[in-house]
Amino acid sequence: MHTQAYVHGQWRSDGGATFAVMNPATGEHLANVTDSSDGLVAEAIAAGELAGRAWGRLPAKDRAQRLKAWHAELVRRAKDLAALMTAEQGKPLAEARGEVLYGAAFVEWYAEEARRLEGFIPEAGLPGREIQVRREPVGLAAIITPWNFPMAMIARKAAAALAAGCAVVVKPAEATPLTALAMAEAAEVAGFPAGVFQVLPVGRERAPVWGAAVTADPRVRKISFTGSTAVGRWLYERAAANIQRLSLELGGNAPFLIFDDADVTAAVLGLMAGKFRNAGQTCISPNRVLVQASVWDEVVERLRAEVQRLRVGPGTEPGVEVGPLIHAEAVAKVRAHVADALAQGAQCLVGGQAHPAGPNFWQPTLLTGLTPGMRAFREETFGPLLALSRFETEEEGIALANDTPFGLAAYAYSQGHARIHRVSRGLDAGMVAINTGSFSSELLPFGGVKTSGLGREGTRLGLDEFCEWKSITIAGL
Ligand code: SIN
Repeated sequence: MHTQAYVHGQWRSDGGATFAVMNPATGEHLANVTDSSDGLVAEAIAAGELAGRAWGRLPAKDRAQRLKAWHAELVRRAKDLAALMTAEQGKPLAEARGEVLYGAAFVEWYAEEARRLEGFIPEAGLPGREIQVRREPVGLAAIITPWNFPMAMIARKAAAALAAGCAVVVKPAEATPLTALAMAEAAEVAGFPAGVFQVLPVGRERAPVWGAAVTADPRVRKISFTGSTAVGRWLYERAAANIQRLSLELGGNAPFLIFDDADVTAAVLGLMAGKFRNAGQTCISPNRVLVQASVWDEVVERLRAEVQRLRVGPGTEPGVEVGPLIHAEAVAKVRAHVADALAQGAQCLVGGQAHPAGPNFWQPTLLTGLTPGMRAFREETFGPLLALSRFETEEEGIALANDTPFGLAAYAYSQGHARIHRVSRGLDAGMVAINTGSFSSELLPFGGVKTSGLGREGTRLGLDEFCEWKSITIAGL
């Protein structure tokens, strides 16, 4: 287990300042991790800028080979990485392993795509003249990632950046730096040149200082962030100083529509899979379940049975489906959403309380009577709370779904061919999932509209986020 920052190909303890990493399931102290100082961050930016220039000039084939080697290392270490992730993040081991493979899939995909960074030659319009349009790496990228997917979010951003020819400095979430540092070890073994992939953990107090340092430094040309809309907005404002390119994957408030012509069994299972993945701590987690009146009773009864049978406990226990929440504030938010909904007339059918497994556990909860005035409707709960609202017509369902400033994911279940098209087009979201509760993959552009963010990750669109276009005019030919 690495606990030191990884800067310019070296493990650095940086004078000894550390912060503690805890196991959210047991409260056990896991490690003291280097709290990177301003000086170390400045050193990493300097090293990254220099290393990135050389990395960006390598033939794409060479970059692809390093990415392939990194992919192989990550897959080879999947069991260990999953164990580390479960220890610091809490998700069940099977899910942690799934996340390692999900993250590694981005590395593999971008290893292949690195070789297709093509430009074009438009018609020049004048004799003796040629115009070349080249794609070039944007420059040093700062990557700031959340605790809910400690590996996949780094992999999704870093693989695209590295394929494009950018060096990266990564700030992992303070709750989950160990997985990120283990990824750095795998990158070291894969043979990335020193300074190309660097990881600088910081504790909670120093996180804004880290953000301020990378936005204040004109050598950092790109910021890629996944996290809250509030922090995204702060970074957006600060990035204006140096006109840095920005990708923001921010909060969601996903609607999950079940129409009267849905396959109810499939809808219930899809909803359970989407909602209780990572104990509901997922930006694309269904947050508002909107059910058409004629299937309401059936959906409610089926969900009641499914939620009651969920197995809650530490992620290391075999058969556990719902692990702990990340920390006490996360539990407090779920508690507040439940209390607010009940005070405004919602009914609790299952759960609604803390779970006896430990202070960070919450019982999987099913509420009916969700209305637009409730916090659980307006805000992302980020916990194991299923809150249901009833609607009458398709138009009303779509209007309720869109009644939010967020627009990351939206889900709908229907067997009606024409309705599927109408609803997909009508939903204000960057990602629409029809008749499935699981769609995350390296094969689709991931990102949101409205206050859910800017830019896309995954696919060739994710690569474009780390590229600039350069046009070269050559006259006198
Ligand atoms: C997220 O919660 O931000 C990412 C979820 C995913 O990639 O599936």
